[in-house]
Amino acid sequence: MIGATGVTIRFGKRVLFEDVNIKFTKGNCYGLIGANGAGKSTFLKILSGELEPSKGEIYMDKGERLSVLKQDHFAYENYKVIDTVMTGNSELYKIMKEKDEIYAKPDFSESDGLRAAKLEERFSELDGWNAESDAAILLNNLGISSELHEKNMKDLEGNEKVKVLLAQALFGNPDVLLLDEPTNHLDMASVMWLEEFLINFENTVIVVSHDRYFLNKVCTAICDIDYGKIELFAGNYDFWYESSQLIQKQMKDSNKKKEEKIKELQDFIARFSANASKSKQATSRKKSLEKIELDEIKPSNRKYPYIDFKSDRECGKDILKVENITKTVDGVKVLDNVSFTITSGDKTVFLGYSETAVSVLFKILAGEETPDSGEITYGTTITKTYFPKDNTSLFSDDRTIVDWLRQYSKEQDETYVRGFLGRMLFSQEEALKKVNVLSGGERVRCVLAKMMLSGANLLIMDDPTNHLDMESITALNDGMDKFKEVILFTTHDHQLSQTVGNRIIDIKENGVVDKRTTYDEYLNLE
Ligand SMILES: Nc1ncnc2c1ncn2[C@@H]1O[C@H](COP(=O)(O)OP(=O)(O)OP(=O)(O)O)[C@@H](O)[C@H]1O
Ligand SMILES: [Mg+2]
Repeated sequence: MIGATGVTIRFGKRVLFEDVNIKFTKGNCYGLIGANGAGKSTFLKILSGELEPSKGEIYMDKGERLSVLKQDHFAYENYKVIDTVMTGNSELYKIMKEKDEIYAKPDFSESDGLRAAKLEERFSELDGWNAESDAAILLNNLGISSELHEKNMKDLEGNEKVKVLLAQALFGNPDVLLLDEPTNHLDMASVMWLEEFLINFENTVIVVSHDRYFLNKVCTAICDIDYGKIELFAGNYDFWYESSQLIQKQMKDSNKKKEEKIKELQDFIARFSANASKSKQATSRKKSLEKIELDEIKPSNRKYPYIDFKSDRECGKDILKVENITKTVDGVKVLDNVSFTITSGDKTVFLGYSETAVSVLFKILAGEETPDSGEITYGTTITKTYFPKDNTSLFSDDRTIVDWLRQYSKEQDETYVRGFLGRMLFSQEEALKKVNVLSGGERVRCVLAKMMLSGANLLIMDDPTNHLDMESITALNDGMDKFKEVILFTTHDHQLSQTVGNRIIDIKENGVVDKRTTYDEYLNLE
């Protein structure tokens, strides 16, 4: 069990939530939901002790172990994969290391012997003998095959690292498990495996996700962060959605009735207060009027950004020609003989035998990497803008959001730049935040603002819906749909592929399959 009493979190003047009292009990899986920037990741950091609340306290049952899905994909670069998983239980991992050191000593003193005996005892209690095989089973279940277990983390691909870190969090049956957007960057098979794992998990899980399908599958309760509060609802996501809509509607209806009553009373008072025979009634109605209190309806922080890509000029006839591209990364040939020609109005969905293949191709098309061989030719009218899968490097300094966006703008006037930020829901004051504190979804909104501002006529987008809340995904889907020029994109979002794409390029191990069709039709053809 874990809980919070009187927890308030403030960043400068902004209150994320105030006086939160909440308890998370064993056997439940809590879905923590809310708009981008509502404070979900911050709340998990408070629960795990990584961050101090402005006020209030966190409590946990004595002797319980808490485990967190690490967000830094590069924190274990020099650890072996199998060891990275076992560090998930830090007490056990420390004991294993200390034991190894003692046994490696050339001379073994009496105190070493005593210490070793003590360590062995605790090691047994923690089921240490099974640790390595448990870790290996978790890895295999997530699709990390045995030959990778002895490699160092730095030798793994990005999506493999994510799986190892997930195995690390799940390792050793923690009492409380905190997962922040665990399905991002996971393939379908691993997501399904994780769903089953969480359904069968007997302790406490608190999971942040924007994926309503996933939330419905695994959650027994929903904690909604909105209106400066965290509210707990029993049931899954759909149940929360229906009941929260109902509560909102009831509140609005009841306020409407009260407003009508107020109006009626005010009219009466205005008409009759000067009238001696009615003045008594008017006075009593004044009293009734004073008693009516409207429910305070705070504005929700769930809002739709306005996403509209406008190109400065139309694409000419020649757009993009890719001829026989090959590329080898870390000894593996990821692109082999890739050729295609993009024409006017193409909104192409890229699929690939591996995620890396598409990402590497997009990096090459964006000019961030060069192919080993082959040619890329853009038409003279083409200007491109790129949405990278990993945007970390764009946000490493401590500029404000306005200054960050201004560096990409020809027009330096602040009002102009703020116009784009306003559409992306960064108000006057919010736009002065430093970019290195932004939430995952807020960063994505910044990258989208940068793309809109560019006025480019060719968009390259590598998984743009990751981190976005549902309102922003809808806005992005509309924006991509409305765009008149050319888009090359890849996404986990089925609906986005289906509603925007009019052509599919599927990168195979040797060459491509290229079809002018919708995504669903293509899947049926496969
Ligand atoms: N040190 C800080 N100073 C000022 N503001 C901060 C700081 N850290 C976080 N914030 C702001 O607090 C808000 C909550 O951030 P958090 O990362 O918890 O959001 P989130 O709910 O996880 O969003 P997302 O769905 O995008 O991941 C954001 O608006 C963020 O910019
Ligand atoms: Mg977050």
